[in-house]
Amino acid sequence: MVNAIEIEELTKYYGKVKAVDSLSLTIRDREIFGLLGPNGAGKTTTILTIATVLKPTSGTVFVYGYDVTKQPDKVRKIIGVSFQEPKALHVDKVIEILTWHGRACGLSGQELKGRVKEVMDRLGLWEHKDKLFMELSGGFKKRVEVAKLLIQKPKIAIFDEPTAQIDVIGRHEIWRAIRELREGGSTLMIATNNMNEAEVLCDRVAIIHKGKLVTVGSPNELKDKIPGGDVVEIIVDKPLVKDVVDELTLTVKASSARYMNNKLILYLDKGEAAIPRIIEKLGEHNYYTRQVRMKEPTLDDVFFYFTGVRLLEGGS
Ligand SMILES: Nc1ncnc2c1ncn2[C@@H]1O[C@H](COP(=O)(O)OP(=O)(O)OP(=O)(O)O)[C@@H](O)[C@H]1O
Ligand SMILES: [Mg+2]
Repeated sequence: MVNAIEIEELTKYYGKVKAVDSLSLTIRDREIFGLLGPNGAGKTTTILTIATVLKPTSGTVFVYGYDVTKQPDKVRKIIGVSFQEPKALHVDKVIEILTWHGRACGLSGQELKGRVKEVMDRLGLWEHKDKLFMELSGGFKKRVEVAKLLIQKPKIAIFDEPTAQIDVIGRHEIWRAIRELREGGSTLMIATNNMNEAEVLCDRVAIIHKGKLVTVGSPNELKDKIPGGDVVEIIVDKPLVKDVVDELTLTVKASSARYMNNKLILYLDKGEAAIPRIIEKLGEHNYYTRQVRMKEPTLDDVFFYFTGVRLLEGGS
């Protein structure tokens, strides 16, 4: 079986800015694949290159065997993109935008009408059907953008931040709809900076940072890449220093440690047994422990483990 998307050493510059840096990835047929990374990581640039909107500076991308640079028309026939920024004429009505989109995708008659109505109902758009695009709130504009791909059902559906600005109920409905697209035979690629979305929705996730691939695998495989099963987070009363952190790491045999200001994160086995020892050791160095938390690793921890920065807001 030929892979859905093969990205080989993709590099993209905007002037002097290197937005994507030698990125290689394989997206399998009928997979829900996530591109997870913070703002500016290069997700949209990668997606737009796959979709033939942008040209690679170097490297190649194959979509079901078609080269995006040499056979863009073939690629455009099987791919659909739901853009990060909703795209529509401001003076068009919601129902017109979606009906036109369905028609442009080759739907007609009852099938067109039926599918547009079904998707609009599902995304809570039907009651806004006669509103002008510019009259919609940000979240509803985004729903219109997502609805386009749900109507189109392309062989490869690419969603750039499908649930940004969308409320919890809408988010779950969109995730369900995306899974159904896959059941219908589509391959899905999802760009997101939301680790929860990547974790619950995607079969495999590529974490990218500053245009480079950090790591790739299923959410569970990624978590298993952090040595030590537990993550212990400690907040103390003053900024930590390297010597103390190094000594602590040795004392409790942590497989690794990260610290920033007053916060320390240790990756280790049997966290619960180590916690008293950690607090004691910190005390010996005149650190007062204000907070201790232990948890299973999340994709945010995976990101932090590999990059030293947090994906989550306020998580630094
Ligand atoms: N049209 C452009 N011209 C110049 N630089 C750009 C352009 N588009 C993106 N960039 C730069 O390329 C880098 C990657 O941007 P990109 O939009 O691909 O990131 P992203 O991962 O999608 O981020 P976000 O989560 O904010 O959507 C950033 O440094 C950005 O400033
Ligand atoms: Mg983006």
